[in-house]
Amino acid sequence: MLHTCNPDTWPVRVKPAYGAQMTEPEAPAPEGAVVPDVGVRDAVEPLVVLDRVNKHFGSLHVLQDIDLTVHRGEVVVVIGPSGSGKSTLCRTINRLETIDGGSITVDGVPLPAEGKALARLRADVGMVFQSFNLFAHKTVLENVTLGPIKAKGVGRREAESHAMELLDRVGVADQAHKMPAQLSGGQQQRVAIARALAMRPKVILFDEPTSALDPEMINEVLDVMVALAKDGMTMVVVTHEMGFARKAAHRVIFMDGGQIVEEADPETFFTAPRSERAKDFLSKILTH
Ligand SMILES: Nc1ncnc2c1ncn2[C@@H]1O[C@H](COP(=O)(O)OP(=O)(O)OP(=O)(O)O)[C@@H](O)[C@H]1O
Ligand SMILES: [Mg+2]
Repeated sequence: MLHTCNPDTWPVRVKPAYGAQMTEPEAPAPEGAVVPDVGVRDAVEPLVVLDRVNKHFGSLHVLQDIDLTVHRGEVVVVIGPSGSGKSTLCRTINRLETIDGGSITVDGVPLPAEGKALARLRADVGMVFQSFNLFAHKTVLENVTLGPIKAKGVGRREAESHAMELLDRVGVADQAHKMPAQLSGGQQQRVAIARALAMRPKVILFDEPTSALDPEMINEVLDVMVALAKDGMTMVVVTHEMGFARKAAHRVIFMDGGQIVEEADPETFFTAPRSERAKDFLSKILTH
């Protein structure tokens, strides 16, 4: 079965594409529809499609027949116990991991194996990791401009002006000329988000972006992510931050043992999970 949203029941509001100017007022939601405080897309258009994806690490079957469609403008939160395959799922989408079976397409194009096509894919599919992964010996500004200059051939001045806009948007423009180590974890993660945005990606994958942060810095990063979601960015977010899921996600995918066990809108998932595995998992994280 393909894990897609039913266009008849999935909340859809009219909204300009990411970064575009709003020219028309938003259409009202149909009466009685559950509309998260985000989201908004012109149409239900598949952007990332996984079809019967399988992946082994030796004898370990880490992804088992994964069917998942992420639509343009959709925010999907992936949740599940440690070792369930959440990171591997993200890593296959930008081909940091190869797959053994099935197919993955991004905007209709199968994942390329290597070369320039792979570099283009990596530009389309941004990734934000738990551990920031900034270049330690480059300034914040250089971290954000490097990709566009090296991988996309953007001129330095244009790259710098776009980078400054993005750093401003994530609230760290005043840190542009510092080295990453001079920034707090929350600031570094916001730089990592700006760096992903600098490539003008079609989708951004976030793998536990706040789990390495001190508690007081979590919200500053989540706020940036909620704003991105509201702007219509397509996002796949591995996180156990339920507040974020409730505020920003259209759908929650629950993984266990390499499978998608359950999916629902956030409210339904957190208040009335169907499977025993999801109930058990939620009871553990809720009592934490
Ligand atoms: N490169 C690798 N080689 C061998 N096994 C791996 C590799 N990467 C992951 N695994 C294994 O695959 C399984 C899924 O790992 P994955 O990192 O995707 O889980 P996860 O759901 O992201 O877990 P966590 O919540 O701990 O981050 C785990 O059993 C893990 O040990
Ligand atoms: Mg992981």
